[in-house]
Amino acid sequence: TTWVVFYILVAYFAGAISSAIPLCRILNKPDPRAEGSGNPGATNVLRVAGKVPALTVLLFDVLKGAIPTYLAYLHGLHDWTLGLVAISACIGHMYPIYYRFEGGKAVATALGAMLPIGWPLAISLLATWLLVFRLSRYSSLAALTTLIFAPFYTYLYKPEFTVAVSMLSVLIIVKHKSNIVRLLKGIEKPV
Ligand code: G3P
Repeated sequence: TTWVVFYILVAYFAGAISSAIPLCRILNKPDPRAEGSGNPGATNVLRVAGKVPALTVLLFDVLKGAIPTYLAYLHGLHDWTLGLVAISACIGHMYPIYYRFEGGKAVATALGAMLPIGWPLAISLLATWLLVFRLSRYSSLAALTTLIFAPFYTYLYKPEFTVAVSMLSVLIIVKHKSNIVRLLKGIEKPV
């Protein structure tokens, strides 16, 4: 259990490191928290800074979810405790200690945190996101749909992680409250 706590803490502090905020600052672009949707994530960096910065943020945010979770996995955490580590990385991204606990929505970090569960799950999630995004051009709708499907895919592929993935999904869906309201009102911004 000491190691579980250790990895939960490592995941939180890694997840709390922002890529979107410092990258936009370095590039002399607007603060993603002040423009567009106000969200410090890859989607909003695409709006305020363009494609390459957005891809950089995506990669970094995926890695900060994937690395702590994968290290914990290598260390022998193979059950729902690994889910706690994954959730902790996402909580770090959502409520970062370095930014007055105001962070992002953790879609990329959650994807990274689910990577160690296995490629079939990762590919299913990516395919779902890409399909909905292609059809709708809404990053938020693509994420929400993917998160609704994630527990089902997990149940089919690695049932022991269903509870952890469901918790992660609920957490991130709740964080999309403003997007859900905008989608329902028909005023969400497509990409
Ligand atoms: O990945 C976050 C996405 O689902 C929504 O981003 O900036 O449109 O709120 P945004």
